Amino acid sequence: MRQTTTAVRRGKVAYRQMVRAVIIGTGSHVPPRVLKNKEIEGMVDTSDDWITTRTGIKERRIVDGETTNDVAIKAAKNAIKAAGISPKDIDLIITGTVTPEMLFPSTACFVQSHIGASSGIPAFDISAACSGFLYALDVANRYITAGASKKALVIGVDIFSRIVDWKDRNTCVLFGDGAGAVILSAERGKSGILSSHIHADGHYWKMLYAPLAVHSSPFHNKAPGISHLKMQGNETFKIAVRTMGEACQEALDHNGLRTGDISLLIPHQANMRIIKATAERLGLPEEKVYINLDKYGNTSAGSIPLALDEAVRSGRIKSGDIILFVAFGGGLTWASALVRW
Ligand code: ACO
Repeated sequence: MRQTTTAVRRGKVAYRQMVRAVIIGTGSHVPPRVLKNKEIEGMVDTSDDWITTRTGIKERRIVDGETTNDVAIKAAKNAIKAAGISPKDIDLIITGTVTPEMLFPSTACFVQSHIGASSGIPAFDISAACSGFLYALDVANRYITAGASKKALVIGVDIFSRIVDWKDRNTCVLFGDGAGAVILSAERGKSGILSSHIHADGHYWKMLYAPLAVHSSPFHNKAPGISHLKMQGNETFKIAVRTMGEACQEALDHNGLRTGDISLLIPHQANMRIIKATAERLGLPEEKVYINLDKYGNTSAGSIPLALDEAVRSGRIKSGDIILFVAFGGGLTWASALVRW
């Protein structure tokens, strides 16, 4: 009794009893079709050398018949298997995506019906482009710490091959298709999400956007259109470096930690130069930065959970590690999250 009182006084019991969202399983899926830089040379006026030097990307995966739902469902099933839980244990599904198969139902609802999750649980999508996964993670984290969810499935998925203009060399070389997912579990202790931070500035929406395709209608003047992605690459680059650096610092400051405490930074995989500039701003050595964009390009909301799953399965992350996630995307949006593994 005396011991407990002393521990409470020191804040230790309160700390241990805190409910956190712990990542208990990760999964991912990429389509098998590989599109190398060399192949794009035959499609637009570009070169393997230009793409590699300016972006770090060598190849990406492209869907060939698979849909956003297919890719998301496979990633979700892999995460559920890794977590060793039943789909019936899941009480919340959130998907970050800007390339859903349909305007509605949401991708999360399709996932719910295909993985055998229970009827009646909340399932919804979040639109935050490349920050989509961290936005979804932030919401799920808040559900869990508020006691409203015990096991959440969080997915990031995008199929940008459907919305890029394959005649525009400024954008078509950058993106790939893929998905990643995590299972969050409400648990007491020191491990789990320490904090998550999401931001947006809609004033900059024109930097990066994809209009909705409109259909011909007797009531609208607009001609039928297509929803190709548009981007002001150079301006986006500068804002990405600034906001990702700030978001990293915000997560560290919030937890009273320093750069030296980070075991691994898993950044959104948009461009090698953006990632390097972000790490340099933090003073983080290269070996503490996870990079896989050479193989997958920018998979938007799929990027961070795909990289996380790869890092986990390759043994790169061990218990007690401090993992920092940071992303930036259309909206504009940016986000970070700090996790003790
Ligand atoms: N091959 C060859 N030349 C090209 C290509 C290409 N694929 N693309 C552009 N160029 C040319 C341009 O036309 C330009 O030529 P010019 O000088 O004759 O006009 C020249 O290369 C330089 O163009 P820049 O745009 O200045 O090139 P930059 O070094 O900025 O690299 C890039 C372009 C890779 C797009 C970079 O700006 C970038 O990565 N931006 C950020 C992208 C990003 O992070 N997006 C956010 C996330 S995405 C999301 O949320 C959906």
